[in-house]
Amino acid sequence: MKYHIITFGCQMNISDSERVASVLESMKYKKTSNINEADLIVVAMCSVRQTAVDRVHGLAPKFKKMNKINKNLKTVLTGCVLKKDKRNLSKIFNYIIDIKDIQKISDFLEDKHGVKFRSSEILRQKDYLNIMPNYSSRFSANIPIMTGCNNFCSYCVVPYSREKEISRPAEEIVCEIKNLVKNNYKEIWLLGQNVNSYKDCACQCDRTDNCKEINFPKLLKMINSIPGNFWIRFTSSHPKDFSDELVKTIAGCKKYKHYLNLPLQSGDNNILRKMNRPYTAVQYKNLVKKIRKAMPDISLSTDIIVGFPGETKKHLENTVKLFRDIRFDMAYINKYSPRAGTSAAKLKDSVSPAEKKHREKVLTEILKATALSHNKKLIGKKIIVLIDSKKNNIYFGKSEGYKTVKIAQESRLKTNCLIGGFSRVKITNANPWGLEGILI
Ligand code: 5AD
Ligand code: SF4
Repeated sequence: MKYHIITFGCQMNISDSERVASVLESMKYKKTSNINEADLIVVAMCSVRQTAVDRVHGLAPKFKKMNKINKNLKTVLTGCVLKKDKRNLSKIFNYIIDIKDIQKISDFLEDKHGVKFRSSEILRQKDYLNIMPNYSSRFSANIPIMTGCNNFCSYCVVPYSREKEISRPAEEIVCEIKNLVKNNYKEIWLLGQNVNSYKDCACQCDRTDNCKEINFPKLLKMINSIPGNFWIRFTSSHPKDFSDELVKTIAGCKKYKHYLNLPLQSGDNNILRKMNRPYTAVQYKNLVKKIRKAMPDISLSTDIIVGFPGETKKHLENTVKLFRDIRFDMAYINKYSPRAGTSAAKLKDSVSPAEKKHREKVLTEILKATALSHNKKLIGKKIIVLIDSKKNNIYFGKSEGYKTVKIAQESRLKTNCLIGGFSRVKITNANPWGLEGILI
């Protein structure tokens, strides 16, 4: 029996898929990268924007065609699935399984799929975050430290699809990372919808008296003190929970590399309020000031939504102003997509698709200029790059500031042996979306 996994969306979904793969391997399924060979297709879906949901619906004809050839084919949907989409999607998939129940996938497939190997009782009893993943990279690992979100930003489905915040025990996270570092992993991504609300009340005290709660800064310090040469990164953070303790901690943790994604969403206070984002443009700006003071070389990225209901040209101007002021290194600019069930969906989607596109372009043009000017400052500098791939004799990797670095260098590049390791690179050129350099 062969399985094929299709992953849509963010790093969290990639991490989910690594757990799905691990459960299936324990049931003696074999992985195939060729969908046409698969007896079992698992889709980890994303519901954040309608376009992502449409892509899942777009798989229907392919499944129909495959079913005609392989009557035994089974399809499973998991990841971020909304209750209201389930009825329609159940017409396409044989099973829709909550990601938190993925360890019990054999209960669904048993008999019906002739599965001979049930996943073990121990695995079936595990919390899904506790399943040992089948890491998709041999040097960069995604570690979910928490899942779910309690913030209910008015446009966002995550609190409905992933539900309430749950943090993983710190001890378990540290143990997983220690093992990875022993196995030569170089980059550890700590994942969560809002990592800075991570809380492990390890003493089980119900938060009374001498609570030994481990918060995100404490967890970072624990990970930073694991011996070995590796980088720590995390995503994503809510500005409202970005405490002074966290700023001080990341500035002091040598293994934390100076790249931060800090979603702004809008630079206008009215829109922020309507988004249920409890900070103002000035508060965001001050937070960035504090972070840059502690780490002047930090590379900053953000998430923005353009065309939120009621966003006027004036509101956009405020975002543009802040965007120019802050000078981001990178930004993920999203066109607002109404999501049924969220509170913003009750508001009129007042900005036309063409205008949303235009607003996206306005911000992208500013980003191009600010990113280029940050990147140009690195020309002539010698930096460390984690090499992650090679194509046509060109190596690619990421800098500490999470910038893509392209390294084209004739004869020294005959082998693949640099992939998965740190290399010293002299930066020779820069463009808005990355750097070019030579090995030194
Ligand atoms: N429409 C557009 N973008 C959205 N995001 C979340 N929900 C929506 C939506 N309904 C964006 C936010 C968030 C990122 C992960 O996705 O910018 O930070
Ligand atoms: Fe969604 Fe807001 Fe939670 Fe981020 S913080 S996952 S945008 S509800």
